[in-house]
Amino acid sequence: MGTVQFHLNGEAVTVTDATPNTTLLDWLRRDARLTGTKEGCAEGDCGACTVAVLDAEAPEGPTWRAINSCLVLLPLVHGQRVVTVEGLAPRTGALHPAQQAMVDTLGSQCGYCTPGVVMSLFEATYRQDLRSPWQLDDQLSGNLCRCTGYRPIRDAATQVAGTRPADGFSAAMAAPAAEQPALRWVTEAGEAHIPTDFDALFDVLDRRPDARLICGATDLGLDVTKQGKRFECLVSLQGLPLRGVTLAPGGGWRIGATTRLSDLELATEHALPPVARMLRFFGSRQIKNRATVGGNLCNASPIGDLAPVLLSLGAVAVIRGRAGERRLPLADFFVAYRKTALAAGEILAAVEVPPLGADAKASAYKVSKRREMDISAVACGLWVAVDAQQTITAARFGFGGMAATPARAPAAEAAVVGQPFSAATFAAAADALRSDFTPLSDHRGSAWYRMTVATNLLKGFFHEVRETAVPLLAARPSGTLLTPDDPADLPTEGAR
Ligand SMILES: Cc1cc2nc3c(=O)[nH]c(=O)nc-3n(C[C@H](O)[C@H](O)[C@H](O)COP(=O)(O)OP(=O)(O)OC[C@H]3O[C@@H](n4cnc5c(N)ncnc54)[C@H](O)[C@@H]3O)c2cc1C
Ligand code: FES
Ligand code: FES
Repeated sequence: MGTVQFHLNGEAVTVTDATPNTTLLDWLRRDARLTGTKEGCAEGDCGACTVAVLDAEAPEGPTWRAINSCLVLLPLVHGQRVVTVEGLAPRTGALHPAQQAMVDTLGSQCGYCTPGVVMSLFEATYRQDLRSPWQLDDQLSGNLCRCTGYRPIRDAATQVAGTRPADGFSAAMAAPAAEQPALRWVTEAGEAHIPTDFDALFDVLDRRPDARLICGATDLGLDVTKQGKRFECLVSLQGLPLRGVTLAPGGGWRIGATTRLSDLELATEHALPPVARMLRFFGSRQIKNRATVGGNLCNASPIGDLAPVLLSLGAVAVIRGRAGERRLPLADFFVAYRKTALAAGEILAAVEVPPLGADAKASAYKVSKRREMDISAVACGLWVAVDAQQTITAARFGFGGMAATPARAPAAEAAVVGQPFSAATFAAAADALRSDFTPLSDHRGSAWYRMTVATNLLKGFFHEVRETAVPLLAARPSGTLLTPDDPADLPTEGAR
């Protein structure tokens, strides 16, 4: 009952014989016979499966976004416009500028990664928010190429980024945004729902207590592709009015649970720099184009990267059930390993972040083995308020990777409150931190390594915020990739 309907390369498609756990990639290759889109890893790491979707609710207006089709389940593209590499230049015979740029810069050798790279360049072609060179590196951070080398590919990105040619894809961006239609898709193999109002959401959750909530599918998709799980009833939150970052009535921000991380990155770059700093080293562009704030917090991973920084900012979880909303300090939201305080029939609706405060010093750090696309060994968000006498009057330190849940560090916080803002105070806090956590050893780092990193981050925080109370993005050596042809309107790292 019900069908999944969407536009694929400009044609309306109705899916008749697939199941709700089918990935978009599998459907494209197997059912639609569009084999230009490749499978490499099936876990969001390589980018070979990249396609583009018109994101009608993007904060800068409708825009094309690159996503990993290996993770997105088919029902989640209901009502969307999807473009694969086959749809870039189907009628004219001429290459799309993103394809032509790869030809011009000799950006392809074996070609396996090329369709995915082209689709990332396709997003870059229509982006309206490119201001800094690192954004082009970030644009390509989810596309692995094992033979060409990244310089030609980066040059191709420079050639097309933000050019927005007057073509059908630009016209689609300018057309009135279509609303997400509701979906009720019932097959013999399971159900998928996209409710567009809260009554419909809670009705389906009442009827199917076994339903699994889903949003970006960048976590849950892995359960399907890597664990072989099949969910009998999926309920997507993407159609509910929960997306966006707004100024909260008393100051501060309300971040809707379905806000995509690429939206959040844009919104927080200057407004909440610690959050933007964390997102800079969070997954790839394709992942951030799908991943949501709610999904990141509700998987309650001890190494989820948003929780530590939001804990340090004093965030509050806004939980919604049929009876209405309730609020819980984020520190009380994580109750055990991968377990949240959400009761059956409740969802995370938003997180509220209070104003930073005029006397605040705040930053965030992520330490992983690789800079791009890696999982944290340790992540933290650190916030202190310092009065005119240079005394610390309040502190919130949030850590990930140090315990079974993301958590505050009460002993380290107590060690700094009432003390002078000095290196000695943070050295004492680093000692106190040893009684806050007993980290585990695993393949990402030993207990000794994690504790050493965490204490060093605390000490380093003092030195960084002594200079600048709320530092912007970390300076980043993208110099080896900068070329004289980089667009003049993209300032260099030093200018930020
Ligand atoms: C390649 C790759 C790289 C990644 N890199 C990082 C990284 O650097 N840092 C990091 O922290 N994470 C990373 N992740 C994990 C993931 O992308 C994030 O956790 C993401 O924010 C999850 O959001 P989602 O919307 O995709 O969640 P989904 O997969 O849709 O859902 C995740 C879980 O949350 C539940 N859920 C979702 N929304 C809600 C809600 N509003 N209320 C209640 N329950 C809800 C779902 O039922 C599910 O259990 C990465 C994942 C991949 C595949
Ligand atoms: S197949 Fe590797 S990211 Fe999708
Ligand atoms: S051209 Fe061979 S993997 Fe990129």
